[in-house]
Amino acid sequence: MEGMTVLIVGSGGREHAISIGLNQSHSVGSIHIAPGNAGTAMVGTNHPVEASNIDGLVSLAMEIGADLVVIGPEGPLVGGITDRLREISIPCFGPHSEGAMLEGSKMHAKDLMKQLRIPTAAATRLDRNSDIKDFLTQNPPPWVVKRDVLAAGKGVVVTSKTDEAERFIYDSIEKDGFVIVEEFLEGEEASLLVIMDESGYVCLPPSQDHKRVWNGDKGPNTGGMGAYAPAPVVTPSVHSRVLKEIVEPMHHYLRNQSVPYRGVLYVGLMIDSDGRPSVVEFNVRFGDPETQVTIPLIESDLGEILLATAEGNISSLNPVFSTLSSATVVLASEGYPGLSKTGKEITGADVTIDEGLSRGYVHVAGAIIQGGRMVSSGGRVLAATGIAPKLSQAIDVAYQIIDSISLEGSHFRNDIGHRALPPKE
Ligand code: AMP
Ligand code: GLY
Repeated sequence: MEGMTVLIVGSGGREHAISIGLNQSHSVGSIHIAPGNAGTAMVGTNHPVEASNIDGLVSLAMEIGADLVVIGPEGPLVGGITDRLREISIPCFGPHSEGAMLEGSKMHAKDLMKQLRIPTAAATRLDRNSDIKDFLTQNPPPWVVKRDVLAAGKGVVVTSKTDEAERFIYDSIEKDGFVIVEEFLEGEEASLLVIMDESGYVCLPPSQDHKRVWNGDKGPNTGGMGAYAPAPVVTPSVHSRVLKEIVEPMHHYLRNQSVPYRGVLYVGLMIDSDGRPSVVEFNVRFGDPETQVTIPLIESDLGEILLATAEGNISSLNPVFSTLSSATVVLASEGYPGLSKTGKEITGADVTIDEGLSRGYVHVAGAIIQGGRMVSSGGRVLAATGIAPKLSQAIDVAYQIIDSISLEGSHFRNDIGHRALPPKE
């Protein structure tokens, strides 16, 4: 049988990881990416169509005769790309616009969790009629303030400073009409990616992201500065609680909607010291950089898994996972997560490691090829990924790779995986 033609939408490290996974799939013949980056260009054909251009993406899918479209970012999902592709019978991995509202509106997700009795932080909606100062006096810090819009990782402030909380609350109400303030959850975070459709679901190995920009989890939130998998904080007993209390009720709800959910549900978790899980957020797409550490641990054919899900048939497969561990370290541009300096040359990103069971390589994110040189084009430029029998070895491989790369002004965290490693002597 000739392999499928797949179109991947997006341009980050996540999409490079998906394209590498599909390139290793026997079921896949050719890979197209829109718009892609310097990494995806090495695995397939990039097309200059932005992820926000839904008409352009639908036309491209028809033009190349796509057998499957895989959506990376949330924007086109909320914008209804899946609805459009299903109208013309092109299988699409990613939920329709209604399912995507789980990420598109945090208030909608909160209301649903309340209805389904899924554990999550209590939330209050504040608007122009609320007494903000009184609210902050009555509710002790830290305050978790969330805008109810897609804000590319910039819509949440966690702070104990009254002036910072107040400013973000007033600014958000000014922009959006209202804002959400959540109870602060104590514990350790983990991400569980659950591939699901109406026939069933498959949990990928749990991972942990490092959201703060600086070592020791300090500084502002970012899209993610590194990740590792599997995350030991998700013990077998935590995992079974997450399934029973969160994944099962969500799956039961989503499979019974008039248009069932077909894609990945990203469950952002906080796990307290008693092993009690709560939902921090739902996303309707693969995480970035969680995907870079999760997809390399899938041993089965990724193309078959994504197609089966897009067709509502995931229960026909029984995917197999590796027993190895993986880690990825993000290299960010100067200034990230603020205004990033881009357009700078990157060298050394083609380095790979292949020693016994250990291997490592670069997942390209915000970088393009210009005049034969690799040049930075975004905040998160690349992710150096290691895969090895032990997590400590995977982390070493990732840092060995990052040490061989140069990009002026760039920065990275040097404590990725610290929670999962024994303390240093
Ligand atoms: P979100 O976009 O909702 O995932 O929030 C971004 C980050 O803010 C999360 O990954 C957490 O690190 C932090 N955060 C969000 N909600 C809470 C909460 N209720 N309690 C503690 N930290 C939170
Ligand atoms: N790494 C966090 C996210 O993808 O939302």
